[in-house]
Amino acid sequence: MPFTANRAFKRAPRLIASAEGLHYRDDAGRILLDGIAGLWCCNAGHNRGPIVAAIREQAGRLDYAPPFQFGHGPAFSLAARVAALAPPGLDHVFFCNSGSEAVDTALKIALAYRHARGEGGRTRFVGRERGYHGVGFGGISVGGLPNNRRVFGHGLSGIDHLPHTYDRARQAFTIGEPEWGAHLADELERIVALHDAATIAAVIVEPMAGSTGVLPPPMGYLRRLRDICDRHGLLLIFDEVITGFGRLGYAFAAERYGVTPDMICFAKGVTSGAVPLGGVIVASSIHEQLTRGPEQAIELFHGYTYSGHPLACAAGLAALDLYRDEGLFERAQAMEPVFAEAVMRLRGAPNVLDIRTVGLAAGIDLAPDPAGPGARGFAVLERAFHDHDLVVRVSGDTLALSPPLNIGADDISTLVERLDRAIRAAA
Ligand SMILES: Cc1ncc(COP(=O)(O)O)c(C=O)c1O
Repeated sequence: MPFTANRAFKRAPRLIASAEGLHYRDDAGRILLDGIAGLWCCNAGHNRGPIVAAIREQAGRLDYAPPFQFGHGPAFSLAARVAALAPPGLDHVFFCNSGSEAVDTALKIALAYRHARGEGGRTRFVGRERGYHGVGFGGISVGGLPNNRRVFGHGLSGIDHLPHTYDRARQAFTIGEPEWGAHLADELERIVALHDAATIAAVIVEPMAGSTGVLPPPMGYLRRLRDICDRHGLLLIFDEVITGFGRLGYAFAAERYGVTPDMICFAKGVTSGAVPLGGVIVASSIHEQLTRGPEQAIELFHGYTYSGHPLACAAGLAALDLYRDEGLFERAQAMEPVFAEAVMRLRGAPNVLDIRTVGLAAGIDLAPDPAGPGARGFAVLERAFHDHDLVVRVSGDTLALSPPLNIGADDISTLVERLDRAIRAAA
């Protein structure tokens, strides 16, 4: 099983049989509250009627069409809808099937762009410590998780990392973007000075680092990164696989922070998790650079058998309709203070070292159990599921919350109360 303690799972399986709205039902019929929107993806809630109907209808009309040299309507419609949600100037979309593929696609587009401009020497990338960009070799190389480095070799060469932006002593229990830390973007100047801008293709960051435990960007940090990239002609890629489609109260974090990158990676929420789909939104300047060769030539030597799969595109169109018709991004924005206040009630629960919240996402650091790193986090995951009817995400001893965007105040309270009980049970 992926990213799973397999033997512990077999000992006490957490089997989910069905879902509806904010809830799962396990195989014994018990109803559980989904505190993480699937895996940061079911932003409109589970098994939403219009999405289910769209998938059914599409499956009956066109199961598959080859995306190489052929196309189908829903892929173009969805590309236009996604681009319309992105900041102006980001108006072309390349589809793949996951966040990991989106990241590798963006890195390859950056290299292809450099090549097309006669800048073949610009091959380096800059990522960030604690960054998570999926599991491909490109993604783990620009990502900054020590486990990947320890286990999977050195990955792509020519990668540098910005420092992460977290300092508990200065930021603990901050709601939203911390005031401290914007200066850490200036480390990019140091990397540029070391390697020379003429060797660097692009910088990639998550606007809000999600998987590492919800680290909102310090105030002004992303603007500073953008300015440094502009000064040195570096492309800036936002990995919005988690932050895209409403998690921070906007279609994309780029909008929340008023900073426009050159590419945005997306996945997860684009279909509300119903069918795998990912992609990259690309600035028109990059698209234009890549489309200057002979007309019969393939412009980008890249793609997947299931790029823009018809079922995924149908699900995506229906999900975007739901987000729009139910005003779910605005709703997330309105619920942000309610959510933050509720989650901060866990301050003072046993072993809680820090809580961070932004949009409808929260990270809660627990003090490790003497049994070893991750033991306490895993105990909370198990107690929450088996005893308190709650599904949460755990990475190490950090808990993450990211409920569906249509959660209301009462369910937020229930979520926090159940998590409180699970944390106490694991103390
Ligand atoms: C920021 C970010 N990028 C990429 C990925 C990888 O996405 P996937 O698991 O769909 O490959 C994730 C997954 O959580 C993510 O959070």
